[in-house]
Amino acid sequence: MLEITRFTVEDLEKECVTDKSNPCFSYTVASQRQNTTIKKAVLTLGEWTCDATNGNHHYYDGPPLEPFSAYTVHLTVEDDQGNQAAAGCDFETGKMDGSFSASWITNGSYRFTEKKASPKPMYFKHTFSCQKSVVKARIYATALGIYEMTLNGEKIGRDYFAPGFTSYKHQLQYQTYDITKQLAKSNEMEVVVAGGWASGAFTYARRNRVYAKRQAFLAEVHIEYSDGSFEKIVTDTNWQTAMEGPLKEAEFYNGEIYDARFHETQRSWQPASLETVKIKPRIIAQIGVPVREHEVFEPKSMTRSPSGKWLYDMGQNFAGIVKLTIQGNEGQKLTIRHAEILMDGELFTEPLRTAKQAIIYTCKEGKQVYQPRLTYMGFRYLSVEGIDPEAIIIEGIALYSDVRETGSFTCSNPQLNQLQSNILWGAKSNFVDIPTDCPQRDERMGWTGDIALFARTASNNFDMRRFYEKWLQDVRSEQRKSGGIPVTVPLVVVPFQWEIMIPMAVDHWGDAVILVPWAEYLSSGDPEVLRTTYHAMKKYHKACLFWAQLFSFGKHRRIWRLLHHYGDWVAPEGKLWTWMLRGKWTGTASLANTSNLLAQIATILGYSEDSTYYQKIFHETSTAYRQLLMDKDGRVKKEFQTAYVLPLYYQMLTETDAKKAAANLARLVRENEYHIGTGFPGTPYILFALADNGYVEEAYRMLLTDTCPSWLFQVKAGGTTIWERWDALREDGTSNTGADDGTNGMVSFNHYASGAVGDFFYRRIAGIEPIKGGYQVFTVRPIIGGDLTFAKTKVRCSYGEIISNWQIADGYFSIEVQVPIGTTAHLQMPSGQRHQLTNGKYQFSEAIGGSSA
Ligand code: BGC
Repeated sequence: MLEITRFTVEDLEKECVTDKSNPCFSYTVASQRQNTTIKKAVLTLGEWTCDATNGNHHYYDGPPLEPFSAYTVHLTVEDDQGNQAAAGCDFETGKMDGSFSASWITNGSYRFTEKKASPKPMYFKHTFSCQKSVVKARIYATALGIYEMTLNGEKIGRDYFAPGFTSYKHQLQYQTYDITKQLAKSNEMEVVVAGGWASGAFTYARRNRVYAKRQAFLAEVHIEYSDGSFEKIVTDTNWQTAMEGPLKEAEFYNGEIYDARFHETQRSWQPASLETVKIKPRIIAQIGVPVREHEVFEPKSMTRSPSGKWLYDMGQNFAGIVKLTIQGNEGQKLTIRHAEILMDGELFTEPLRTAKQAIIYTCKEGKQVYQPRLTYMGFRYLSVEGIDPEAIIIEGIALYSDVRETGSFTCSNPQLNQLQSNILWGAKSNFVDIPTDCPQRDERMGWTGDIALFARTASNNFDMRRFYEKWLQDVRSEQRKSGGIPVTVPLVVVPFQWEIMIPMAVDHWGDAVILVPWAEYLSSGDPEVLRTTYHAMKKYHKACLFWAQLFSFGKHRRIWRLLHHYGDWVAPEGKLWTWMLRGKWTGTASLANTSNLLAQIATILGYSEDSTYYQKIFHETSTAYRQLLMDKDGRVKKEFQTAYVLPLYYQMLTETDAKKAAANLARLVRENEYHIGTGFPGTPYILFALADNGYVEEAYRMLLTDTCPSWLFQVKAGGTTIWERWDALREDGTSNTGADDGTNGMVSFNHYASGAVGDFFYRRIAGIEPIKGGYQVFTVRPIIGGDLTFAKTKVRCSYGEIISNWQIADGYFSIEVQVPIGTTAHLQMPSGQRHQLTNGKYQFSEAIGGSSA
């Protein structure tokens, strides 16, 4: 039996609305039969047909698609035995290249001038009737600010924080919602728009009005009636607006203030004004992944704090909101505060810096349910004031971009399983429309270095395609003329206020323009992500070279010292300047790595001359690192773990030098009693650098060490996410708040960056590694070690499900492998015995230290 297991338009199985003239169609098939191959696959859309037998991403190139239209693309697949399967996938187009006839509206009487604050929520309302029977109705909407709409009292759609965060100067998404079933004969639509990212206070500098002086809203309702007639309702001065409403304040950092006593009679609606919007973005159908509700948590415990507040432990640190079911009295005021950890029995709010993370809710009489809509918090613990526990039910709702979980890893060590869970929660909490650094304090910004280093781990666990596509578009838009990539995207504020830094190329942070598309390509196999970003990659690389070469001669031209580097950011030893002064090593290694990757990317895209050029830079830079930063014994002049990890992992060393460097790294690791010593750039790769160079035992010992600093210390200390600093909590229970190390009090308990070790779980413990993009060819080469007796791993790649389940019992190593249709696996057993496998399920075993059976 041949089965189509997934068929998508623009990576969505349903509800795709696109403005693209060439949407991408993908499918996966599965069969019970071993060695199934696809003989023929055909895609059809109207007159257009396409041979989809080979490859897994097919772009439409038929007659132009019409705007605001519905389409179905059909797929038929036949295998080598004549079994057939067929499927269809519906999608719609949006406005395509055209423009909306709606106008931007605002509350013209609202003047918002306060600094470092967020504007008051702005309300809009429109009433209209539908006298005939409706066959299809859509609303297309966007805002400057973040909006939520209700139709006849019911929320439209499931999204939070629409229109999402993009580089608004360049592009702004609009959302499409099917409201056919929600329409009645007479309708009232209400919209609330908070400041959000466009005009609310954002970043640690609390800049506001960055993209708009106040909120604005734009929408069109398209209604098709059964008699064939069509009606369009657009935002204009016929809409009403008000500044009064139950929601008094809404901000990402501070939370919400809500008064449930609010009554419609307290509101004076006035006609909306047309807004002159100062930016001119391209308005595009949603390409990113909407933020939605996910896991719901019930409190694990409730206690009374020394100061008399009720404390709730939700059992998991996450990004999200509370849902409150309250039995209240009119005018009763509740305050809910959120924090990641407790210290001395109270919420530890110091790491939040200026973010209040609070809900202030005033009750109406009786039973009521409230959950914030236009804010989110990073928290595990809550304090509740103003109500007794019997009168309130509290739940926690995780909010994050609706990325599909595509991987899973479990093994025999419960602490590692908890670490994997912490990695996933670190990711979920920071995929809130853009890849953020953390979900709690006054940042939550798109720091490029964090995702650059986490990208492969993210792709092992989640389908990142749409999430990256949206963000990479902003990366390209925000690239400076000189080629530099801002350290946060979208760019809102410049670190340290050094405006001059904007054009800077910053190692590993700017590398996101190469590392993120590369991770996505390896995972999906679609070269389009490389093609669209290639120009920006080249420009960035040129900027890196510029800084490396400035004031340098000879071989020194490949040592990248100048100017601004984050270096070995958050390494356990030293302070801000210790990390940054390691920039010469991290910068030079980054230059080698990006050159090497660009050489590979150029080859994939067919630019052979470019490839030769980048290879040359890679070799020169590697040689310079070896000759100028290391001595003849493969010892870096200033020893720290990252200085060995990067040249080893980036394959910058000759075989002999790699041996020496690895021995030095292993010595350093042993001297440090297997504790981690790396900052952001070294952390994802240290276990690879050890294990791949003959130090498997050291790699496992480091992974399994559970005293501070280490990954498992975080687990032992009760962490449920990944920490920003290795000693965010110390062995003695105190916190390193970064109060005196130049970082402006920087400590978060929910940063995914150091969770990049998760890549080692998939690529080394399970041994699943793509050799060709999309896992068309992949290895299964488990590295056994530590105390592990089994590891079960799945990767849902674009061809189907890969499985590597191994176990050790009675002196035997055995493994189950599943290879999807269209792929080839190279299995290597611990003995070195190799098997080449095509589609199917397989089992192998061998005596440990012996031969295969
Ligand atoms: C962020 C980091 C970021 C770093 C850059 C911090 O404040 O939270 O994750 O990459 O700054 O230096």
